[in-house]
Amino acid sequence: METKILKPTEENIRLAAEIIRNGGLVAFPTETVYGLGANALDSAAAAKIYEVKGRPSDNPMIVHIARASDIGQLTPRLSPDIVTLIDTFWPGPLTMVVKRKALVPDVTTGGLDTVAVRMPDNIAALALINEAGCPIAAPSANLSGRPSPTKAQHVIDDLSGKIEAVLAGEDCRVGIESTVVDMTGEIPTILRPGILTAEDISAALGKKVEYDKSLFVHPSRFPKENGCREKICTESSAAKSKDSDDLNAGFDDDFKPKSPGMKYKHYAPKAEMVVVEGQRDNVKAEIERLKMLNERLGNKVGVILFEEKAFIEAAHDLFADLRQMDKEDVDLILAGALSDNDGVGFAVMNRMLKSAGYNIVKV
Ligand code: TXA
Ligand code: MG
Repeated sequence: METKILKPTEENIRLAAEIIRNGGLVAFPTETVYGLGANALDSAAAAKIYEVKGRPSDNPMIVHIARASDIGQLTPRLSPDIVTLIDTFWPGPLTMVVKRKALVPDVTTGGLDTVAVRMPDNIAALALINEAGCPIAAPSANLSGRPSPTKAQHVIDDLSGKIEAVLAGEDCRVGIESTVVDMTGEIPTILRPGILTAEDISAALGKKVEYDKSLFVHPSRFPKENGCREKICTESSAAKSKDSDDLNAGFDDDFKPKSPGMKYKHYAPKAEMVVVEGQRDNVKAEIERLKMLNERLGNKVGVILFEEKAFIEAAHDLFADLRQMDKEDVDLILAGALSDNDGVGFAVMNRMLKSAGYNIVKV
């Protein structure tokens, strides 16, 4: 199939909306990352997304709407808290998990009785949804397991030839995916951290907000699909931490996090990747040591070391940097951990650790 690359003009948005209405797939920009969209209420169309991405079908998708009031089509009941969060943060990078109406097909929700809904803060996205006249199911527009796309070119690299069209708009402002908060219980629970933090949500609601426990479970290292390059050396000069193994307790086949996406390998660059964690000067020194060691072994080494506390910038750049290093055929990526327990830095660390397959060196 030839993928149309469309600038988001009025005419092209009409064309893209028609593709969606006819059951096709269109990738489009949002403020967070690019999404791969289909009519959320059309099972056959939504099913194509899983196929194209190579995504496990029990991993539900986010349903995007263009008017806040359209959430009423998807859920039977709006609590006062949900209304407050809509008023405070929509359009914006906040996804709410709510009870679903039967109208939302199983394919879209991965068979759950809840649905994740968000109103993105991007003019082209809102125009597309409006013009399509239906809610649009859209996971990130990358091949499953690859870093999320923050530029139209990333989408083209992954999905060209597999989908009808890419609405090629601006680069994504935020760079990491929306905060996902489960609103179905008494206490709002963050399933995926993002640029809107627990503190932001808690301040809006005037009540406590919790994190899903799975966010603090680090599975043991995922095996690299293409096999570790044998000649890469990531042994720390410090004693290697056993934490990643200890933290593995409970994260096995029976582990059922509330957000099904949490259990899959994510955001992985082609290169081997290591996160170096510890006091800043030690991290810098260890990265330098591993870099020299591996360059001597003939490896191409890339370094991701964000400025201290520059969490917003880190969110903006992380996925694009990972993709850039793949383009440059880097063998080993050394990334400096961000020290932040529950803010934006925490959200970036959540992605960084997954990208590295929880391959952590502590210094
Ligand atoms: O910023 C974003 O949210 C981007 C843009 C395109 O809007 N979308 C995105 O979608 O990141 P995706 O599919 O890559 O991530 C959706 C996350 C997954 O972790 C999924 O498991 C979770 O939301 N999710 C979706 N529906 C859910 C539900 N009903 N209950 C719990 N978690 C859900
Ligand atoms: Mg994704």
